[in-house]
Amino acid sequence: MGRVAELAGVSVRTLHHYDGVGLVRPSARTAAGYRAYAAADVERLREVLAYRRLGFGLREIAELVDDPSADAVAHLRRQRSLLLERRARTDTMVAAIDRELAARAKGVRVTPEEQLEMLGARLYDTIGGAYTATRRTDPRIAAQIWEALGEARTVLNVGAGTGSYEPADRQVTAVEPSAVMRAQRPPGSAPCVAAAAENLPFADRSFDVAMAVSTVHHWGDPLAGLREMRRVARRVVVLTFDTDEPGWPDRFWLTRDYLPEFTCVLAEFPSLAKMADAIGGRAEPVPVPWDCVDSLFEAYWRRPEAYLEERVRRAMSVWTRVGPEAEGRAVRSLGDDLASGRWAERNGDLAGLDAADLGLRLLTA
Ligand SMILES: C[S@@+](CC[C@H](N)C(=O)[O-])C[C@H]1O[C@@H](n2cnc3c(N)ncnc32)[C@H](O)[C@@H]1O
Repeated sequence: MGRVAELAGVSVRTLHHYDGVGLVRPSARTAAGYRAYAAADVERLREVLAYRRLGFGLREIAELVDDPSADAVAHLRRQRSLLLERRARTDTMVAAIDRELAARAKGVRVTPEEQLEMLGARLYDTIGGAYTATRRTDPRIAAQIWEALGEARTVLNVGAGTGSYEPADRQVTAVEPSAVMRAQRPPGSAPCVAAAAENLPFADRSFDVAMAVSTVHHWGDPLAGLREMRRVARRVVVLTFDTDEPGWPDRFWLTRDYLPEFTCVLAEFPSLAKMADAIGGRAEPVPVPWDCVDSLFEAYWRRPEAYLEERVRRAMSVWTRVGPEAEGRAVRSLGDDLASGRWAERNGDLAGLDAADLGLRLLTA
């Protein structure tokens, strides 16, 4: 036990405690009859300690390591992506500190917003590192958005992220509050202002059109943000989600059968009617193509195996919002239903569809 404690960098007391609460029980015996750690115990100890270092509580860790659907590779993958997120957050904090130090050295005043940015508490500063792996412009959805932009020359893209759906043939200004997302914008992309939708730093009617894609549900005050878009632009184009229709969670098998918690994520989200009202606009459906190349939450409605991939889920904020417990359960039960043929039985009719209306709506004003 002493040797294992030394190698793992923990005290023997900690190992006794883990043994006592049933988290890591040494299963082998030494020649002298003392309890010793077999290879599988060491692997489990490594998993426990890694989750501990990532800040999980012992009860949560017990659930994670006892999950029969997660093998050592699944734990390593999850820990790797959690560490990458943490590294992105640390990098953001270091960069913010460097900026503030440089500003103070020059005697420049640092605004309260800039000071708070250092804390990097925003969701996309946490999950944004995984974004570029799978999130990109889908040409069919882009065509519908760009058509709605009409003749506009100057475009404000609010909640711009890494720049998906920004038209190349117009003069675009981007607005993005997350430093992690801003840092991932490709070289040569439109200039990006660090600001939030609810308080756009532009004069009234500064742009022909203001657009916002897959972002309104992240805003602290969606209606205030939409009114701001209306103020700074002559026209507004917004890709968002319809929760007005009764029984909307049943539109998509993933929320209906595996992740009912999605409804809680959108509990505070305004109705489509209220959002349309805020900009004085109307809504049209945006079908999701069966082979959608932008990994949005609904993208894989005809390719269910994709939701089993950690890499795919990490770029969809819904999974982080529902928490690891609901995520683990949903993925496990989807995996079981795919293996048993139950998913195909229930959703066989989807195979014949090229696009599906899953509640995405384009608001235009
Ligand atoms: C799902 S991403 C969408 C990014 C991009 N529009 C796209 O389609 O790929 C959501 C973005 O909204 C941003 N966001 C969050 N809160 C915001 C706010 N209050 N105002 C503007 N953008 C915000 C996030 O930082 C993130 O980059």
